[in-house]
Amino acid sequence: MDNIPVIMIIFGGSGDLAHRKLYPALFNLYEKGLIKKNFAVIGTARRPWSHEYLRGQVQEAISESIDNYDKKDAEEFASHFYYQSHDVTDVDHYIALKHLAEDLDKKYDAQGNRIFYMAMAPRFFGTIASHINDQHLVGPGFNRLVVEKPFGHDLASAEELNKTIQESFKEENVYRIDHYLGKEMVLNITPFRAANPLVRSVWNKDLIENIQITVGESLGVGTRGGYYDTSGALRDMVQNHIFQIITLLAMPEPEKLNSKEIHQAKQELLASLHIPTLEDVEKYFVRGQYAAANDKPAYLQEDQVAPDSMTETYAAGRVVFGKGPIANVPIYYRTGKEMKEKKTRIDIVLKTQDNPYGEVKPNVLTIIVDPEKEIHFTINGKEVSGNSLRLEELDFGYSKKELSEIPDGYERLIHDILIGDNTNFTHWAELKQYWKYIDAVEQAWETMNQAGKKPETYQPMSFGPEKANDIFANKKDYWIYQ
Ligand code: BG6
Repeated sequence: MDNIPVIMIIFGGSGDLAHRKLYPALFNLYEKGLIKKNFAVIGTARRPWSHEYLRGQVQEAISESIDNYDKKDAEEFASHFYYQSHDVTDVDHYIALKHLAEDLDKKYDAQGNRIFYMAMAPRFFGTIASHINDQHLVGPGFNRLVVEKPFGHDLASAEELNKTIQESFKEENVYRIDHYLGKEMVLNITPFRAANPLVRSVWNKDLIENIQITVGESLGVGTRGGYYDTSGALRDMVQNHIFQIITLLAMPEPEKLNSKEIHQAKQELLASLHIPTLEDVEKYFVRGQYAAANDKPAYLQEDQVAPDSMTETYAAGRVVFGKGPIANVPIYYRTGKEMKEKKTRIDIVLKTQDNPYGEVKPNVLTIIVDPEKEIHFTINGKEVSGNSLRLEELDFGYSKKELSEIPDGYERLIHDILIGDNTNFTHWAELKQYWKYIDAVEQAWETMNQAGKKPETYQPMSFGPEKANDIFANKKDYWIYQ
C-alpha cells in the first residue's frame, strides 16, 4: 500500500467509537503501510487528557481488539497521536486546533492533507462543520469530512446539516459513513449479482416473488437508552443499514464498478422509491417494544427511557420501487433488539412455476451477512426412491483462514477515505430519499399514536410481534427465516 500523508482530526477522540473501532482500524492500516511516517492524529474532546494519556489509550484500544500485535509498532504508532481538550462551541479552540494541525503538518510532512472525523454526539455535527469553515481549518492539500450516523433526525434537519457542511466541503469530499457498506457480504452483493448467469438471469420482477431482510440483534438497548429513545429501530437501522442493503439488491446493474456509476445506479433507483401512505403503514408495517424476560427489563423499564415511550425497538416494513430490475417486487424487512439471535440475513425468494411434480417449495437465494458469511441456494431435487422432491442447499463460503483475514468494516472504509474513494459511502441524493420514506412512516405512526394504537409488545428471544407474519401482500408468502 502507498503511504498517504495526512493529519486526521477526530472530534470525539476520547469516545467509545474511537476506542473500539477507529484506533484499531488505523493501527491495522499503519501495519499495512497505508499510513506510515507522514501522519498524525489529533484527538479532541471535552475531557482534559494529555498527549501521553491519549497515547496510552490508543495502545490499550489496540491490545483490546487485536490478537498478537507488535507492541513496539503500537508504541511507535501511538507516538503520532496528539490530544487537545475542547469545547465544540469555543472559537479559540478551533484556532488552536488549526495551529496544532499546521505544526504537525510541518513536523510530519503531511502535505496539507486533512481528514476531519465527526465521531461524537450528532447534535454537534453542524456546529463543528461551521467552525471548520469559519476558522479556516482546511489545509492546502485534500480535505475530507467523515460524518457518523445519524445524519439528521428527519429530512428537514438533515437538509440543514447538509447545507452547513456544503459551505466547506464539496459533496465528493463528504464521507457519510455506514459501517454496513464495509461488511464483506454486503460488498459481495454486486459481484454475486453480476458474475453468475444463474443469478443474473433470475434477478428480475418476473422471477422474484419477494425479498426478505432480517437484521436481528439479541441484546437490548443497554446503556444507550437516552439516544435510542429519541431514535427507534426505523431511524437507527432502517434509514441507513437496511436501506443500503436494499439499494444494492434493487439497483440496475452499473456498467462499471466505479463510484460515479454506482451512485448513479442507486439514485436512478431511489428516484422511484414508493413513499408509504398511512394505509400502507397500517397494512405492511409493524412496530414493537420488547417485554421483560427473566432478569432483563422490558424496554419501558430501561434506563433513560420514558415509561410511556412509543419508540419502537422492532420494526418490520416494506419497500417498493417503481423502476429497476425488480420494479414492484415487495422487499420486506424486520429488525429489532432482543430478538432470537444476532443475525443479518437476506432471503431472495423466487416464484414457483407449474411443473409435473405438483406443488413445490420456492427456490431461495440466502445471503448471510453476519455472523456467518455465506450464500446458500435452496433448490428442489428428486428423492432417491420415487419421484417426490426434497429441498437441498448449494453453498458458498470462506475458509477459516480467509474468515480471519476479513478486515473490519471500519478498517475497510477508513482505507477508502484515505485513498479518496467514496463508492461505499452514502451520497446526499440517496440520503434524502431515505429520509422521505422514514418521515412518512414516522408520521403515520404518530397519527396512529393519536388514535391510541400503540406499538405491539414482543417476547425477547423471538422474531418480534406475531403480527409481523401478516405483512405480506401475497397471503401465500411467509418469512423464510424462522
Ligand atoms: C448501529 C446501531 O448503527 O448498528 C446499533 O446504532 C446497532 O443500535 C448496530 O446495534 C448494529 O451493527 P452490527 O454491525 O453489530 O450489526
